Amino acid sequence: MKASHKKLAAELACDYHVASNNSPWLLKLPVIKQVNFSEHVQELMEEGPRQIDSDTDTQAFQCTGKASDMTLIDALARRKSSREFSKSALDLQKFGQLLGLSNGLRNKVGNANDSGRNAPSAGSLCSCEMYVLALNVADLEKGIYHYDVGAHGLKQLKLGDFKEWSKRMLLLQSELCDSAAFIFLASNQGRLRSKYGPRAYRLGLLDAGHVSENIYLVSAALNLAVTATGGFIDDELNNALGLDGVDDCVVLVLAVGEPAGA
Ligand SMILES: Cc1cc2nc3c(=O)[nH]c(=O)nc-3n(C[C@H](O)[C@H](O)[C@H](O)COP(=O)(O)O)c2cc1C
Repeated sequence: MKASHKKLAAELACDYHVASNNSPWLLKLPVIKQVNFSEHVQELMEEGPRQIDSDTDTQAFQCTGKASDMTLIDALARRKSSREFSKSALDLQKFGQLLGLSNGLRNKVGNANDSGRNAPSAGSLCSCEMYVLALNVADLEKGIYHYDVGAHGLKQLKLGDFKEWSKRMLLLQSELCDSAAFIFLASNQGRLRSKYGPRAYRLGLLDAGHVSENIYLVSAALNLAVTATGGFIDDELNNALGLDGVDDCVVLVLAVGEPAGA
C-alpha cells in the first residue's frame, strides 16, 4: 500500500466512529420508534441461526449437563490471557461446551428452557458468528468448521492441517499456533447494516466483544487456556473462511487449549 493510501486509510479508520454517531434529529423522527416493528426487521429476527451451505453433515456435540461447578465470581477471579498451551489434545465435548456456552442457544447448552442465546446482541440480530480452526482436538479431523448454533455442532468447511499456514500467513504471534484450536469471531455486518446503517460497525464489534468475554469466562470455568488476538491478516483469514470481508468479516481470533503442564 502506498504511503498516501495508508494515511487515508488511517484517517478513515479514525473517522468511522464520528460517521456512525447518531444525530439528535433522529429523536424527532417518529419513524425511528417503528423501526423495531418494521416488516424487514421482523424478518431479520425470524431468520434464525445461520446455516452454511455445504455438502457435509454437521457433527453435533452431545448436550451434556452441568459443565462446571465454578461460580461466576471465581471464573472472573481466574480469567486471564494464557499464551502457553499443552501438547495434549482438547477434549471435543469440552470444546463444544466452550462454544455453546459462549454463543450458543441456552436450551442446547445449560439448563434454560427458552431459546435465547448465551450472549446479548444488538437488536437480537446475533451478528457474531463463530468459525473454528481445529489444530489438535480429540476426535475431530483437523480443519476449518462453522459453529452451527441451531444444531449445536460443527459444520465442516475445509479439512487439512493448517498449523504451518497459521504460523506463516495468518497470525502475528506464532506461539499462539501451539494452541489446540482457534475460534474466529466473524461479524455479520450486512445483517446489522440493513437495520442500523453506519452504526452497524460499532454494534458488530460490541456483539463480538460480549462473545469474547464469555469465551474467556467459560475457559476459566473449564480450566482452559485462552488468549484473544487482533493480530491477524484479515484478507488471508476471510478468504480461508469464504467471507467477503465486508458484509462478513473476522474481527477477533481466540486461541484455546489445555494449559501448559496439564
Ligand atoms: C480485543 C483484544 C485484542 C487482544 N490482542 C492481543 C494480541 O494481539 N496479542 C496478545 O498476546 N494478547 C492480546 N490480547 C490479550 C490482552 O493482552 C490481555 O487481555 C491483557 O494484557 C490483560 O491481560 P489478562 O487478559 O490476562 O487480564 C487481546 C485482548 C483483547 C480483548
